[in-house]
Amino acid sequence: MKFFIDTANLEQIKEAQDMGILDGVTTNPSLMAKEGITGTDNIMKHYVDICNIVDGDVSAEVISTDFDGMVREGEALAELHEQIVIKLPMIKDGIKACKYFSDRGIKTNVTLVFSPGQALLAAKAGATYVSPFIGRLDDISTDGLNLIAEIRHIYDNYAFETQILAASVRHTMHVIDCAKLGADVMTGPLKSITGLLNHPLTDIGLEKFLADYKKGN
Ligand code: G3P
Repeated sequence: MKFFIDTANLEQIKEAQDMGILDGVTTNPSLMAKEGITGTDNIMKHYVDICNIVDGDVSAEVISTDFDGMVREGEALAELHEQIVIKLPMIKDGIKACKYFSDRGIKTNVTLVFSPGQALLAAKAGATYVSPFIGRLDDISTDGLNLIAEIRHIYDNYAFETQILAASVRHTMHVIDCAKLGADVMTGPLKSITGLLNHPLTDIGLEKFLADYKKGN
């Protein structure tokens, strides 16, 4: 399973990249605003800064909701850097734009996916990635992980190549469960990745090894 980090914070992206386990980055307008990145020029520059830190795919979201606007914005984003993936909302014009970009060999990520039917449409439109939001489903007492299982089942039935990018991952157990269910990618905050490091027996064991080494030296 690929690990993407879901943030526009350059320090956190660097920290994950330095661990050597980062495969890409996802962003959205809310994450940009959280970092105080506003205005088209600043946002475009920030995408390039992110691409210069990581080796993998970087999702950049359009804010237009009509086909022509999405194509115009997506083409400008794709020009920025070869690592840019055009992130499109799961609406009718988003699906149309997804087909437009996939026909031209430009990578896409269909976002705000909350049902298997939406994921099926994204795959039919040739999306590179589909982003089911598991945390936001959990927030409304609906099993987000079940959606990952349903999409995996459907995609495997027809050998769709669209990669399931489990998004709105909130914590380490989401990461582990996504891996069990066969998600291709997960994207979450830095703590959902670094939290995987932790086990008290590791800390206790290491402390003992170091103490025993000191005894003999
Ligand atoms: O990748 C989608 C993600 O940014 C949404 O996460 O935590 O805002 O539901 P969250």
